[in-house]
Amino acid sequence: AIAYLNGKIISSNDPVLPIDERGHQFGDGVYEVIRVYNGRVFMMPEHMERFFKSAEAIKLNVGKSSEEIMAIVDDLIERSGLQDCDVYMQATRGIAPRNHLFPNVPASISMTVKPSKHVNEEVRESGAKIKLLPDERWQNCWIKSLNLLPNILAKQEAFESGALEAVLIRDGYITEGSSSNFFIVKNGEILTAPATNHILHGITRIAVKEMALELDIPFREQAFTSDELLAADEAFLTSTTQEILPVVEVDGQKIGNGKPGEVVKKLYELFLEKM
Ligand code: PDD
Repeated sequence: AIAYLNGKIISSNDPVLPIDERGHQFGDGVYEVIRVYNGRVFMMPEHMERFFKSAEAIKLNVGKSSEEIMAIVDDLIERSGLQDCDVYMQATRGIAPRNHLFPNVPASISMTVKPSKHVNEEVRESGAKIKLLPDERWQNCWIKSLNLLPNILAKQEAFESGALEAVLIRDGYITEGSSSNFFIVKNGEILTAPATNHILHGITRIAVKEMALELDIPFREQAFTSDELLAADEAFLTSTTQEILPVVEVDGQKIGNGKPGEVVKKLYELFLEKM
């Protein structure tokens, strides 16, 4: 697949990063995953806003304006020849002799454009299984940082138990999935954890909030427990790559009637019109 590294167009397989690159030595960087539908970049202003906020939070100077970054993305998509694809973008503090103290330099920026990853059709139809696990991450989950070890360990554990996603619990309350935001529906109302420092402020989560308003479905940002999840009528998760995905089973127990619910179906239908 096609890739970008600091002004050069390369292949994503090219071995280009020196050993002393801070992204892989320290996870010293931030990233975004952005979806392109029919050649159109989906919710780009929201992604750019989050990207710059994440960078600022780790004192990383992006060194480019969001307009400049959007122009690079557009060019890369055009070169890729792809209509439906995922853009991965990361900014790190680049190459410097290994030292915990960091250099004050403009970010090293890399991107890849690859064909979209899709959720398995059968899972999309019948709904996903999830596993509940403790949220072992730090206090700044709103920063989209490269440090994903707790996330990948949780996802792997869920996968090995036959579940699609790990959904995380901190202090008795559900925060989010290892790579998704998480929602329940109870008595016609959508509930999701509030956008605090304990979750990533998902772009698809914003889309759901807007669509709920449009569909006249109450949307409440309030933390809920695993007991409330098990007693919910519906559950679903969201992310750029998984979009809006019904969840029907938690640790082997069915949610509602064990089938994707009406609210999540309505949301996804509207989402398909907007993409
Ligand atoms: N992950 N929460 C976490 C921890 C995430 O990593 C993601 C996205 C989300 C959903 O955010 P959005 O709707 O903006 O994609 C929530 C991306 C897709 C990833 O790491 O691949």
